Amino acid sequence: MTQEELFKVLVAHCKEYGFIFPSSEIYDGLAAVYDYGQMGVQLKNNIKNYWWEAMTRLNENIVGIDSCVFMHPKTWVASGHVAAFNDPLIDNKDSKKRYRADVLIEDYLAKIEEKINKEVAKGRKRFGDAFDEAQFRATNPNVLREKAKYDEVHGRYLKAEEANDLAEYKQIIVDCGIVCPISGTSNWTDVRQFNLMFSTEMGASADASMKIYLRPETAQGIFVEYLNVQKTGRMKIPFGIAQIGKAFRNEIVARQFIFRMREFEQMEMEFFCKPGTEMEWFAKWKENRMKWHVNLGMGAENYRFHDHEKLAHYANAATDIEFNFPFGFKELEGIHSRTDFDLGNHQKLSGKKIQYFDPETGESYVPYCVETSIGVDRMCLAVLAHSYTVEKLENGEERVVMKIPAPLAPIKVAVMPLVKKDGLPEIAQKVVDTLKYDFSYQYDEKDSIGKRYRRQDAIGTPFCVTIDHETLSDGCVTLRDRDSMTQERVKIEELRDIIEKKVSLTNLLRNL
Ligand code: GAP
Repeated sequence: MTQEELFKVLVAHCKEYGFIFPSSEIYDGLAAVYDYGQMGVQLKNNIKNYWWEAMTRLNENIVGIDSCVFMHPKTWVASGHVAAFNDPLIDNKDSKKRYRADVLIEDYLAKIEEKINKEVAKGRKRFGDAFDEAQFRATNPNVLREKAKYDEVHGRYLKAEEANDLAEYKQIIVDCGIVCPISGTSNWTDVRQFNLMFSTEMGASADASMKIYLRPETAQGIFVEYLNVQKTGRMKIPFGIAQIGKAFRNEIVARQFIFRMREFEQMEMEFFCKPGTEMEWFAKWKENRMKWHVNLGMGAENYRFHDHEKLAHYANAATDIEFNFPFGFKELEGIHSRTDFDLGNHQKLSGKKIQYFDPETGESYVPYCVETSIGVDRMCLAVLAHSYTVEKLENGEERVVMKIPAPLAPIKVAVMPLVKKDGLPEIAQKVVDTLKYDFSYQYDEKDSIGKRYRRQDAIGTPFCVTIDHETLSDGCVTLRDRDSMTQERVKIEELRDIIEKKVSLTNLLRNL
């Protein structure tokens, strides 16, 4: 199965087992908007808890807030979103479909890269062990021709991006013969900027109403509450403010499932520090955030930093933590050193003094800020994609198992009486009563035990507990482990501690 096919299977699995549904599906769905089902919401909450506790409990100098989606419209002028939160758009006049011009060019470049890689793969097959890839790439005429094409278009694209030259974007699309995938024509409009913020009206009457935006990032809620939190919390620099909440972007190229959505959730932390110390904090937060990811046990090799060469005008350092998604390494989290850009601009536009008085030095200054920002949904996708596993069993059957890190699993334990009679359901109910205060659980007495195990594997339940006839005499149950499928007999009283060891969020936090 190709990675693309595997991704489709994952999306179908997420729907079938109650993780994620296309929103408003009975009306044929709404593009790039997804609902979380009964399993998805628990996974999402567990991810949010892990982040929230790691930020606000393990760091004495970080506190959390919950600010609103609606903010005063001047917020978005100060932050630069009104002027510059744009994508370059182009329409095909025949299909009436709209595209991001930069994405059309990037897709074209990706196709050239794919051609080169196919050529290299052919060479490897032809020459076997004697194959020298570097030499092949340097001498093969087909590779050289494609590489020259790539370099020329890529060079033009980078220059156009740097200069924000919309006419050149269009010229590249025309020169490369890029056509609309729907109409197959190159009948394009000019490229123009399109602001990604959703807007709406606030107020009862048309005259008195005010145009407001749905926040495109949660960070600005933190910046505008900086003074309140610093004063009421008697916070001393350096300190951080964390927040989890919804953000909205009118993404034009919305694809790859929950990777790029129009309504999504962010977990953002703004760390305020003394100007001049920001690089030190930037390095610390890079390390800290990578540790948080790797601690989940999804393989250190699946993460990498991608340092930005081209920095946004407000940043003096930036990096992405990329994850190895089924469609390649892509941004999972962004870490930015945002200088005093946001607080400084809010100070200017609001006319309120937003400064920190340092009691030790007697100085006042606008603090600098290092931001860590991760999408909850993107994190869900990373976990789901990594966890989806198809295994061949000894009896020739296949099992689909979601190897979700146990502390994040939606359901921690399934309790199953072997049969629906002989007093076994009653004992199972007692087992539920001993476990339900500590763990999310499912009680299942339907179908064969094998089928019930498969159902739990498919949602990633780390443990299944089976009550059988022997339980009546020895007070022991069978505890089955999701990943190894090993089964052991344990006393009912021991269950809680054994399960806790593996699924505990506290233990996960302790390892940080
Ligand atoms: N405050 C900084 C900020 O918003 P960003 O790189 O635009 O920076 C941060 O977004 C993170 O939010 C990304 O790394 C990604 O995980 C998530 N994110 C951004 N746009 C998204 C979208 N359309 N759908 C899902 N997640 C998104």
